[in-house]
Amino acid sequence: MSFSAHIITLFPDLFPGPLGASVIGRGMADGLWQLETTQLRDFATDRHRTVDDTPSGGGAGMVLKPDILARAIDAVSPEGDARPRLLMSPRGTPLTQARVRELAAGPGAVIVCGRFEGIDQRVIEARGLEEVSIGDYVLAGGEVAAMVLLEAVVRLIPGVLGAAESHADESFENGLLEYPQYTRPQSFEGREIPEVLTSGDHGKVAKWRRAESEKLTRARRPDLLK
Ligand code: ADE
Repeated sequence: MSFSAHIITLFPDLFPGPLGASVIGRGMADGLWQLETTQLRDFATDRHRTVDDTPSGGGAGMVLKPDILARAIDAVSPEGDARPRLLMSPRGTPLTQARVRELAAGPGAVIVCGRFEGIDQRVIEARGLEEVSIGDYVLAGGEVAAMVLLEAVVRLIPGVLGAAESHADESFENGLLEYPQYTRPQSFEGREIPEVLTSGDHGKVAKWRRAESEKLTRARRPDLLK
């Protein structure tokens, strides 16, 4: 069974978008993962296909109705579906490479994309939605966030990246940012490749890279060192 992603959204036409391109799209064509979308509005019951209503207690914006979302989730992910149910939201737990690795090792994900001021809290609880944020900024909706999450996950599915691409040295995989990379020409606009990298001494290269990784992480992401 390959990794199975199912998106619940008011904008299914946005998918696969970037997920259809490059190695991620090839992985889908090769059957290493699959993507389905469901139009949330199909689960509305009134003539105008309403999915939202005004917030209880007053205030700006609209809130996604719990009954409609619950019906969509139940149709997409009946009881016994082992896939986690994610809700893309700036209120969520920040996405990390560790969570990305867990998701890639699992059966897939059901992903709800918000497009409103919010979603009725009761459906979040009743359907066990895990709120996930991709960063401390606010997007217009969860669709791009869902694409970000899936791109990060799918590239870790075995066979999606070629054998040549190793994950071991990537940023975050060892808790550090990745060291700087160089390739020919030896001299570019007066800047040389660091000598150690052309010395042929693999031990020295490894030590240099480790030191550069630590220096970069200390400067840019001291939070990762704690
Ligand atoms: N929807 C809006 N902003 C978001 C964010 N930062 N992360 C995930 N989903 C979102």
